Amino acid sequence: MARSGTLSVHLLLVISLSAIVVAAGGRALPLNLLRGFERPGFSRSFHRIYDTSKYGIFQLNNGLAQTPQMGWNSWNFFACNISETVIKETADALVSTGLAKLGYVHVNIDDCWSTPKRNAKGELVADPKTFPSGIKALADYVHKQGLKLGIYSDAGIYTCQVRPGSLYHEENDAKQFASWGVDYLKYDNCYNLGIKPKDRYPPMLKALNATGRQILYSMCEWGVDDPALWAGKIGNSWRTTDDINDTWASMTTIADLNDKWAAYAGPGGWNDPDMLEVGNGGMTYQEYRAHFSIWALMKAPLLVGCDVRNMTAETYQLVSNEEVIAVNQDSLGVQGRKVNVSGTGGCSQVWAGPLSRRRLVVALWNRCSKAVSITAAWEALGLDSSTSVSIRDLWQVRITRMSQKMLRPRSLHR
Ligand code: GLA
Repeated sequence: MARSGTLSVHLLLVISLSAIVVAAGGRALPLNLLRGFERPGFSRSFHRIYDTSKYGIFQLNNGLAQTPQMGWNSWNFFACNISETVIKETADALVSTGLAKLGYVHVNIDDCWSTPKRNAKGELVADPKTFPSGIKALADYVHKQGLKLGIYSDAGIYTCQVRPGSLYHEENDAKQFASWGVDYLKYDNCYNLGIKPKDRYPPMLKALNATGRQILYSMCEWGVDDPALWAGKIGNSWRTTDDINDTWASMTTIADLNDKWAAYAGPGGWNDPDMLEVGNGGMTYQEYRAHFSIWALMKAPLLVGCDVRNMTAETYQLVSNEEVIAVNQDSLGVQGRKVNVSGTGGCSQVWAGPLSRRRLVVALWNRCSKAVSITAAWEALGLDSSTSVSIRDLWQVRITRMSQKMLRPRSLHR
C-alpha cells in the first residue's frame, strides 16, 4: 500500500437507539446482555451479522480482563534496549500524562529482562546490568504509583531473544513471578521443541493459579494453532497473528486476520492482534487514528507501544480519546467486525459492533489512498430500515439525529 500524502478522514461513530434502555448492570450472565438487541430497532439479521452464538461460552474465569487489558509494553519501541530506568520513567509518565487514570495501568516488560542463564538454583534472574535493583523492587515502585507490573517469558526452552524460557519450569517460575509481585505474564512461543501450543500453554495457567496471586495470562502463540477456538479456557488473551510492524500494510493485514475470530472474544478472554504502534513514526496521524479506532472497536488489548516519556501531542490526543477508549472498555465486550466491503479494490469498508445500552459502534474505513464514498446501510448494520438513531462522531464529537432516508454517501480519504 503506497502511502500518499492525501488528506485523510476516518469516522468512528457511536449509534444509539437510546429510547429503550436495557438494564445491563449487576452480575447478569453475559448472554443476557445481548437480549437488548431485539426488534423493534434491530433487524432479524442482527445476530447473524454479529454472530453472537459463541459469545461468553468459555472465557477464562480468573476474574481478570473483564474488559480488554490496557497499558504499555516495552517491545515495539525499545526491543532489547530496556532497563529499570526506562520502566520506572515510563510508569512515571503514564501517571503524569493522565494516561493511567484513563485505564492504561499495566506496565509490561517484554523480552530481554533476564540473564542468558538461570542461576545455580535454577531460578530466573534479572539482568544485573540493566535491572540492578531486581524485579521485586520494580514491582514495588510501580505498585506505589497505582499501576501493575507485567513480565515476559516463553513456552519454550528459550525466549525469542534467547533468554531462558519457562517450558518445564512453569511451577517455579510462576512462584517466582508471584513472589516478586508480578501482575501480568506475556507468554511467548519461541524454541518450543515442536510441541503443540495446546500442550505447552495450560501448565503455566495451572502454575499461575496455584500461586494464589491474580496474574493476567496473555498468551502469545501468534495464532499458529487457531487459539480463538480453544484458548478462552486457558488465557485472558491470545495473539491471533504474527508480530505487527509500524506500517499501514502490517496493521491492516493484522486487523483482517484478527477479524476472522471476532465471535470468540468476550469478557475474560480477548483476541489479541498485537500491541499498538501509535506514536512510533511509521504511519501518518490519520493512519494511526484508523489503527487506534479499529483496535478499540475490535476489543483488542490496548497496549501502547511507543516511548510515552516523549510522546507528541498528536500521539497523546489519539491514545487519550476517552470516548474511543470507552468503546474498547464497553461492558458488553463484543468484538466489532467488518460488516461491509465495497468499491474498487474493496477500499470502502464498514466495521461495526454492538455496545451496551442498545448502541452500536460503526467505523467508516477507507483502506486506500484515494477519496472514496462509504455508505453504512442500515441493513448491513443490523438495523430495521425504519429505525431512527442518534449518531455521535467520536473524533469530531458531534451529535446528529439520523434516519435511513437521510443517508448520503460521504467522501472520505484515508
Ligand atoms: C515475539 C513476540 C513479540 C515480542 C518478541 C520478543 O516475536 O511475538 O511480541 O515479544 O518475541 O522477542
